[in-house]
Order: sequence, then structure tokens, then C-alpha cells
Amino acid sequence: MQQSLSIEAKNILENNWRQGFTVPCEGLYPFQWHWDSGFIALGWMHLDLERAFKEIQSLLKGQWKNGFIPHIIFHNPSDSYFPGPEVQASHLSPFAPEIPTSGITQPPVLGWVLGEMYAFAKADSRMLPFLNEVYDAAYHFHEYLYTHRDPKGEGLVYICHNWEAGTDNTPVWDSIWDTMDSPEYDLDRKDNLHIAASHRPSNREYQHYIHLIELFKSYAYDDALIAEKSPFLVQDPLFNAMLIASNAALIDLGRILGKLEKVSQLEQWNAQSKKSYNQKLYDPELKGYVYYDLRNDRALPVLSSSSFTALFAGIPDKNRAFEMIEAFAKGPFSGKQKEFLLCASFDPSSNSFDPKRYWRGPIWINLNWLLYRGFRKYAALELTEQIKADTLYLMKKYGFYEYFDPRKEQDKKLTQGYGGKNFSWSAALTLDLLLNK
Ligand code: GLC
Repeated sequence: MQQSLSIEAKNILENNWRQGFTVPCEGLYPFQWHWDSGFIALGWMHLDLERAFKEIQSLLKGQWKNGFIPHIIFHNPSDSYFPGPEVQASHLSPFAPEIPTSGITQPPVLGWVLGEMYAFAKADSRMLPFLNEVYDAAYHFHEYLYTHRDPKGEGLVYICHNWEAGTDNTPVWDSIWDTMDSPEYDLDRKDNLHIAASHRPSNREYQHYIHLIELFKSYAYDDALIAEKSPFLVQDPLFNAMLIASNAALIDLGRILGKLEKVSQLEQWNAQSKKSYNQKLYDPELKGYVYYDLRNDRALPVLSSSSFTALFAGIPDKNRAFEMIEAFAKGPFSGKQKEFLLCASFDPSSNSFDPKRYWRGPIWINLNWLLYRGFRKYAALELTEQIKADTLYLMKKYGFYEYFDPRKEQDKKLTQGYGGKNFSWSAALTLDLLLNK
């Protein structure tokens, strides 16, 4: 059974491979996506280390001269996605590379992905030369984030667009959209041609997404102007947890590579980041980390699966982690009667929870993988086993879809997952769950 699952996962990655990088999903997402490539590289590492290297090298082809790594790299033309390179217009920035990219980023997974690759293949003679080749670029991205995305010098970097979070339409943003008066653009959406509209973000939400991009283009993607004027400026617990985990991995790898000045800078950044993350983002009543709306100077006290990714990055001390884990196990994410498969992407007890609509409730496999590793790190054995078992159950029953309904009642009736089929990170991370002991 498990063998056939890993063969299916391998076939998906093979089919989605495009000479140097892997598309997240044929048709629906036809380019290279930033944080997808990190998760996908973990799958390739089990199958073909060269491809894992290529995945990262191709991502870095999109890096800007100021260190910024964009969320999409348009290696190839395609008319099956909106907004494509002509809408995103990266050439407006003086820092953009020749290859067209988006002008916004995604969670900084690269550092800790390199750490995972090293742990897996340190005995391989190709590993150190590869790390030597990419290390400075990974560091440069962190330097960009701390220099341009942390206006108050807190060690917490902001995202300026919901797509930068990776959790595109989470209800967390609803109260931010309420502060904006975006124009009613005519949208040339392609996603709804592939997927039922009721499972995707609404048109009004898309108008906000495009409005932010139009604003950033009018500032030629200048970071200082964005920090001053963007109506969306958020310190996101998932994004910052990825940064902290990546700092830690780059510290370890930097020591191995003899990059001691960079190591000491990373240590300073990371100490400050962890301190502020614990002080500013923890909500003791909800017992999880929450978002901070920097533009409107207010916490956004709601729980999503991102609230628990701090465990993956080793951010809380043991006492706080214990408190979080206990609340998670007994609270709304599993349900009092254990009526949910792990892990809903948004608090199932909230009125905004929608178990079918993208990041407003469904289960996503990359978040499951991060939570699995987080629970494991703090020896929460039951949850570790449960989230792994639920993930593999979904893959076996439905196949490698993009997202899944968390309601066990609904699971009895359903025969399909939601969103794109043959989704690359669902395949890659299943391989890692099966093969990485
Ligand atoms: C969707 C997801 C995002 C992902 C992208 C490509 O936009 O919300 O996290 O990176 O698809 O798979």
C-alpha cells in the first residue's frame, strides 16, 4: 500500500518536472512558486538529489539584485494563469533580474530546506559544493528582509500582500479588506476555469489582491514607499517562523562552510526575532501565536494553522509549548468529539470557518507537514502520530489533491479532494513522511 503511494507521488513529481523546476500543479499553477519549490525539493531529495539542487538553482535565477526572492518565477510563457508576468511587471523595479518574476515574495523556507537537504545527504560528495554555491544567496534574502521589511527594528518582518503569506484568502485578512476601498477591476481570472468558484477566493477578494499589486507597481516596487503607504502590512506568525527556522539552519550551515561573519549576524537577527515573536505575537487566551496588523497597529486575535508553526521553528519554551499543545489537542482544531481530521487551516469554531474554501478551513499538506515536525520536536507523540496518520489517510483515499475537507462527517460522503489534482507539494511531502525517519 505504502509502496504504491510513494510510486504515485514519484509519478506526480516526474510529470510536473519542467527542465529545472517543478510546477505546483499543471494548468492551475504553470510556473515556479517560491515556497512550493522548497517543499518540492524535499521530495526530489529522496528520488534524485540533482533535481533537488536544480529546483533551488532555478528558484535563485529569479533572485533580485537586492536579495529579494519573488513568489513566482515566470521561466516559461503560459496563458493558463492570472495574473501573469505582464500584470506583475517586475521590470518596473531597478533590482529585478532579466527573467520576469512577481514583485512580492513568499515565506522564506530556503534556509531550513537547505538544512534538511544537508541532514539527509551530508555524506554525498555533491552536497558541500552545492551549499557553497547557494549559501550567500540564501543569506542575502534574509539581509533583504531585515533591512527592508522591519521598519521598527523589532526582528519581525512584515508581509505587504496576502499572497506573500502563502495562505492566500485566510479569514485573518477580512478586517484588513474592510479598511480598503479597492476599485472594481475587470478580472481575467483563470483559476475558476480549473476549479469550482465556491472553492476559491471571491472576486471581491481578488480585486483587493490586484489593487495591492497595482499600488506597488505605481511605486516601482520601492520598499520604502510600500512600507509607508501599503494598506496591507502584517507581521505573520507563519512567515516569521519560517524566517527563524531558516536563520537557525543558515547558522549551522554557515559554521560548516566557515562563513563566520554571516553566522554572527544571523545569530543577532535570530535572537531578536525569537524574543519579539514570543513577546508580541503570543496570545495567552487563545494559546497560539497570532498576526499583527502593523498598518492599523492592532493584533488580529484569531487562530489558524499558522498559529502553531512556531513549534516547527522551536520558538516557544517547553512550558509554553506544552500549553499550546494541550490546547490544540482539546480545542477547536480536533473538535470536542474529535470531529475533524487534522489540521483545518482556520479555527473550526469561528463563524468565518469554511471547510471547502481554500485557506478558510480546508486541510493543506504543507501545513500538516510543518505541524507534524513541530509536534515531534516537542515530543507531543499522540499529535505527531495523529497528524501523520490523517495526512496519509487523505492521500490514500483521495489522491494528491491541493486541499481537503477536514470534517469527518463529510469525509464519509466525499470521493474527491478539493482544488488542483496531482499537486506537487502534497506528493513531495508525502514522500518525505514515508521515507524520512
Ligand atoms: C496557491 C497557494 C500558495 C501556493 C500557490 C502555488 O496560491 O495558496 O500557497 O504557493 O498556490 O501552489
